[in-house]
Amino acid sequence: MAEQFDVVIIGAGPGGYNAAIRAGQLGLKTAIIEKRDNKKLGGTCLNVGCIPSKALLHASELYETAEKDFEGLGIQTGKLSLNLAQMLKQKEDAVEGLTKGIEFLMKKNKVETFLGAGEITGPGKVRVHGEKQLDIEAKNIVIATGSEVTPLPGVEIDEKQIVSSTGALDFESVPKHLVVIGGGVIGLELGSVWRRLGAEVTVVEFLDRILPTNDGEVSKQFQRILKKQGVKFKLSSKVTGAEKLKTKVKLSVEPAKGGDSEVIEADAVLVAIGRRPYTQGLGLENVGVEIDKRGMIVTDHFKTSANGVWAIGDCITGPMLAHKAEDDGVACIELIVGKAGHVNYDLVPGVVYTYPEVASVGKTEEELKEAGIDYKTGKFPFAANSRAKTNHETDGFVKVLADAKTDRVLGCHIIGREAGELIAEVVSVMEFGGASEDIARTCHAHPTRSEAVRQAAMGVEGWTMQA
Ligand code: FAD
Ligand code: NAI
Repeated sequence: MAEQFDVVIIGAGPGGYNAAIRAGQLGLKTAIIEKRDNKKLGGTCLNVGCIPSKALLHASELYETAEKDFEGLGIQTGKLSLNLAQMLKQKEDAVEGLTKGIEFLMKKNKVETFLGAGEITGPGKVRVHGEKQLDIEAKNIVIATGSEVTPLPGVEIDEKQIVSSTGALDFESVPKHLVVIGGGVIGLELGSVWRRLGAEVTVVEFLDRILPTNDGEVSKQFQRILKKQGVKFKLSSKVTGAEKLKTKVKLSVEPAKGGDSEVIEADAVLVAIGRRPYTQGLGLENVGVEIDKRGMIVTDHFKTSANGVWAIGDCITGPMLAHKAEDDGVACIELIVGKAGHVNYDLVPGVVYTYPEVASVGKTEEELKEAGIDYKTGKFPFAANSRAKTNHETDGFVKVLADAKTDRVLGCHIIGREAGELIAEVVSVMEFGGASEDIARTCHAHPTRSEAVRQAAMGVEGWTMQA
């Protein structure tokens, strides 16, 4: 007879493995199924996403610092050279360590792991296509199968010359000219990595600005900073085709609105125009799970249209972020056991891990204007923050947006070193429904970059003191 579980989770990314941990904690008999070829848990995030990209961002930033800033700091070294193989290896070490950690967490929480592709064959029934075929049964099935790269017609990915983010984590040598299609998060993070290591980088973006969903002022200033670092931009442009030669790729690029096309020659091309939900081979049709026209699984509080089938993470609507998938997973399991699982989607922070980092939470100025909400702004530049000045890292600013009448914080947008850490304070304040004055009157350690957040909050009521 098929083994019975309270919950079977399909997909072991941040959505799936965190759901599994929470289910284990709550005493549910839990199984998780993962089909990655490398047999590792952790999903896109740990294997080919957040973790390897951050490992390369960290190492490449140190390389550039050693190259450009050490001398001014009074640090003398011998001739600097890049050992790319070792840089890629330390990235793999990070992946290996963290994916092993997930295996440990599954065991610790008594979650049974099945390696193979999960297919829903009927209500409460899941088949695992692994080394052997196996059927298991569950009261609840949680789909956490994540997302995949959105392809660009005419620009076929081979993961060598024309790559997705996965291939861009593994170039064997630094491309002379890397063209990035898409000025979003992946393009700017991985473009930064290869620029720091010596590539000429050109970003081709369809819209008239990079990071189009961020606050407009942030997008503009961030582009200026990246340009100063040497990244070239072709905005309002689209790639209409790619011709692969032996060692080069010729890209046809034309204005987004149409017009004369030009040819750009590249040694490598990164396609980073977004990701789409991944539900292939899952057997959704066997139980009648509905998907929308973008392929997202339709959910209401994680419940799909099929009884006993739930879905979380990148394959449902909302930002495609690891921490959002994690929160979905926890809330979904809590709802399964009858608790009040809940995710506040208004307060999912977003971070771009470049130098400087870009972090944001809540509403942008554009969104507030469109919604007709009367707001006040407080802004503070890192050029006036003592820690940033001391460390010669003055790029960027903090902007706090608050309701003009109630002073409740509605949004915060930061460009600067460690912006991703700084935003956490504002997320907490916003979760508690706090006001800009709450931040402004909270003691912040000196000298820290967090003082810039306080000074920006003071600015909402016009009493910024240090600029
Ligand atoms: P995934 O992590 O995609 O996991 C889904 C898993 O399900 C996969 O392992 C897949 O193999 C498995 N699966 C699919 N179908 C089946 C099946 N039928 N049977 C069994 N298993 C199956 N987000 C951040 O928050 N911060 C970052 O810094 C960040 N950096 C990123 C960098 C890159 C280059 C990329 C590509 C993404 C990045 N993301 C980042 C996004 C983040 O990786 C995703 O939002 C997150 O992984 C989504 O989690 P998930 O659990 O929904 O899906
Ligand atoms: P994205 O949605 O961030 O950016 C895609 C960009 O490509 C947009 O600016 C869009 O206007 C542009 N674009 C779309 N079609 C185009 C075309 N035909 N030609 C030129 N430009 C085009 O998507 P990206 O960068 O691929 O990342 C996918 C997702 O992965 C992100 O949305 C994010 O959720 C996640 N991610 C998160 C990271 C983080 O949190 N630090 C890091 C990397 C990825």
